[in-house]
Amino acid sequence: MRVVQGNKLVELLSLDFGKLIRKYSEIRIDIGAGDGGFVYKNAKNDPEILWIGIDPVEKQLRKFSRKAVRNKVDNVLFVVGSVEMLDEVFGNYKDFVAKIYILFPWGSLLKQTVQPDEEILKNYHRLLIPGGKIEIILGYSKSAEPSEINRLDLDKLDQELLKEKTIPAYKKSGLTSNKVERVNKENLRKLETSWRKRLKYSDTRPVYYLEFEKERDSE
Ligand SMILES: C[S@@+](CC[C@H](N)C(=O)[O-])C[C@H]1O[C@@H](n2cnc3c(N)ncnc32)[C@H](O)[C@@H]1O
Repeated sequence: MRVVQGNKLVELLSLDFGKLIRKYSEIRIDIGAGDGGFVYKNAKNDPEILWIGIDPVEKQLRKFSRKAVRNKVDNVLFVVGSVEMLDEVFGNYKDFVAKIYILFPWGSLLKQTVQPDEEILKNYHRLLIPGGKIEIILGYSKSAEPSEINRLDLDKLDQELLKEKTIPAYKKSGLTSNKVERVNKENLRKLETSWRKRLKYSDTRPVYYLEFEKERDSE
């Protein structure tokens, strides 16, 4: 597992990762963590929990990793990886994650969140403890980002897409939908992510909150 520590990239051995996760009563993962602000700020507030931010862009992760080193916040990991590489990143470790966050995804992460491949969902399912949750906040629209939506070949984002396609795909992999709702700027005000502040909200870009739960009796 490649981990950003300040400005350095270091290899965390699988054995050492195992020792680390055993020290915590709860583990949460943020996929597409960006600059790592969400995991860093939560780690500071919640020292009992190990917060793991994953993003393919090493340079972005340095921002809050440097702060974590400087301020000795050690219950946070900044991992270089992608949603497509979760099995590689975590190896044989499974059933240890209480919550997965996917906040304002873009690119292939957005595609895999709205129209996910079975392999990706299997990996979420494998990582989560029974009753573990996935929290997603996403928004896009053809009028706000036409070339990206065409490139990713995304369907129009609305309740129908989420209820007819997205939620059934998760359900098929043992991830039951708890909530799907449209959210507005006010609802998101307390969310500590850098992109929340940067995104422009308007009626042309709907934003949705989705929550899934790993079924307790699923394999
Ligand atoms: C709009 S930013 C949001 C960052 C952060 N969640 C926030 O709210 O500030 C989207 C992030 O998704 C990451 N990303 C894109 N494709 C990804 C993939 N396949 N797996 C994991 N992360 C990905 C990007 O590198 C980028 O940091």
